[in-house]
Amino acid sequence: MAEHASITRRYKFAAMHRLHTDQLSEADNWKVFGKCNNPNGHGHNYVVLVTVEGGIQERTGSVADVGALDRLVHETVVVRFDHRDLNGDPAFADKTTTGENLAILVWDLLVDRIPDARLAKVGVIETRDNYFEYAGPAAVGVQ
Ligand code: NI
Repeated sequence: MAEHASITRRYKFAAMHRLHTDQLSEADNWKVFGKCNNPNGHGHNYVVLVTVEGGIQERTGSVADVGALDRLVHETVVVRFDHRDLNGDPAFADKTTTGENLAILVWDLLVDRIPDARLAKVGVIETRDNYFEYAGPAAVGVQ
């Protein structure tokens, strides 16, 4: 059996968003989301960390084809969100554009398409103090 390992690649895009949900009143939106609820929106320089894992291939000594992974993430994630308004993305039509939901969306966009490896984790750095992670659906019974 080949040894297992993981590799994490770092990608960047700039996007704007507004945290707001129609399921809350104006006052409660403000209470929950604070200044991120500002109607004018605001931007972030998002950093997305994509971790893939798998067996180390004997021929290359690598877990994954990094070039292929970079192309996939660029085409699937970076191009989709860079210099866009996240609130206008169809995937966010009925979800708030929180870091949690963004990490899950990036996961969903990539999970079935990783070349030769398995998606292990998606991390989203939104601000200096905000980092979100998603590592796939929770096991049954875990909330
Ligand atoms: Ni924000």
